Amino acid sequence: MVAGNWKMNTTVDEGIALAQAVCAAVSGTTGVDVAVLPPFTHLWAIRQVLEGTGVRLGAQDVFYRDSGAFTGEISPAMLAGWCDLTLVGHSERRHLFGERDDEVGKKFVASLAHGLEVIVAVGETSDERDAGSTFDVVERQLDAVFAELETPPSVDDWVIAYEPVWAIGTGRTATPEQAQEVVAHIKQHVRARYLDGAPRVLYGGSVTPANAASLFAEPDIDGALVGGVSLRAEEFSVIVAAAAEAIAGRATA
Ligand code: PGA
Repeated sequence: MVAGNWKMNTTVDEGIALAQAVCAAVSGTTGVDVAVLPPFTHLWAIRQVLEGTGVRLGAQDVFYRDSGAFTGEISPAMLAGWCDLTLVGHSERRHLFGERDDEVGKKFVASLAHGLEVIVAVGETSDERDAGSTFDVVERQLDAVFAELETPPSVDDWVIAYEPVWAIGTGRTATPEQAQEVVAHIKQHVRARYLDGAPRVLYGGSVTPANAASLFAEPDIDGALVGGVSLRAEEFSVIVAAAAEAIAGRATA
């Protein structure tokens, strides 16, 4: 899977043009689950652009209640039936907007309840990595999600994005070995504690056309959550093509 998190970028017109360019650029590539996550204001219009292209639509966040006096929030009920995915727990939500682990868990559960696939993002800060607590942090963030669940989700209904905070938007990508180590640990933790299998785990944090193939060559990395580069359709499509090649390689391995 390669998902483009546009963050707070583009006007509606620019977003429509970007979505069209992404669809055109990835149209020859098969086998990769491609998604774009535009701002909320763009979703309805971009849904029409994506129709019939195979590129899926995601929201960058969602609230956990269906309706009510929650000024400024968007509920999963509003997205259900026409939007494919939500992203919850992005580090910018956690660190800039003070979102707690339990709120991320509630958003996760609410999304699933409305038939939306969910990408849940986890990752440590540089201080946490330096302190040797990377595994503890990602386990805590995942455990908080499972604490909100009454029944375990099917592994097909959700995706984990491992995004070390120190690598997001910094140009300082985790090495493939660093990313693989944590992604493998995440899968092992989910299997040991909660589910028979593990969902797909993406890596995110300064993924570019130059480093995508080496990340995808790692056995447990199942794709990328791409920020900055997702605003440039051609470069984004190179990452999608790298994922397609990695899948082909795994099939013949
Ligand atoms: P970046 O962002 O690719 O710009 O580092 C990744 C993300 O925040 O999902």
